[in-house]
Amino acid sequence: MPLFHEKVALVTGAASGIGRAAALAFSREGAAVVVSDLHLTGAEATAAMIVESGGEALAAACDVARRADVENLVAQTVHTFGRLDFAFNNAGIGGALGMLHQKTEAEWDDVLAVNLKGVWLCLRSEVQAMQASGGGAIVNMASAAGLVGFRGASAYSASKHGVIGLTKTAALEYARSKIRINAVCPGFTDTPMVASMLEAAPELADSVRGNPLRRLGTPEETAEAVIWLCSDKASFITGQ
Ligand code: NAI
Repeated sequence: MPLFHEKVALVTGAASGIGRAAALAFSREGAAVVVSDLHLTGAEATAAMIVESGGEALAAACDVARRADVENLVAQTVHTFGRLDFAFNNAGIGGALGMLHQKTEAEWDDVLAVNLKGVWLCLRSEVQAMQASGGGAIVNMASAAGLVGFRGASAYSASKHGVIGLTKTAALEYARSKIRINAVCPGFTDTPMVASMLEAAPELADSVRGNPLRRLGTPEETAEAVIWLCSDKASFITGQ
């Protein structure tokens, strides 16, 4: 029996990279998956992969920085599949690299709106849907840059540190509703986001492999951690 038989999962930023890998992994484990992204065509491509391999998926356009979009997304999920069991709040942007005195207020606002406010907006709607069906599990996308500083990425690093504080607080607030809320903090992972960063700053090619394993992570490796955190195997883990 797959882990998530008759369960429903929602993934944001699922047109690409880690979000796509997680959507496919939720489906492999038997969940119906709501595949959402700013870019509908990419979300539809991920949903088509799921359907081709025998799973159930709904593609939906959603800008996580917009409250109305997020509320509609969760309402559409419950309307289509009747419930929400798992959410992976993964959508995020890197922003262009640069020393903080060179950055504009608009760049700061964009990164914080997607990476931090977006996670808050998603949590807000998701916990209400999960309370209605008796509980659930949520994983927020932070980053290794949420744990340590990242030269040239002040807004990004601040937003990801914020996701960690938000995750810890949300876990406390909804534990009694039987909703577990955790975050993942991957190191550099082989996705279009990192490819575009390396294109802009090829001198970082060595440092992106500056982890003990001396290589980039794969999207599938982070997806497996997300699946495990959502599963009952992690039933005593929240706020981590
Ligand atoms: P990616 O660029 O391949 O995928 C990000 C997806 O998010 C794209 O499909 C994009 O359309 C979507 N997106 C962007 N803004 C959005 C918005 N406002 N609303 C909805 N969707 C939106 O990037 P990747 O690498 O898969 O990143 C996913 C998450 O993982 C991000 O939050 C990123 O910060 C985080 N992360 C990535 C790492 C890496 O090395 N690739 C390391 C640690 C964390």
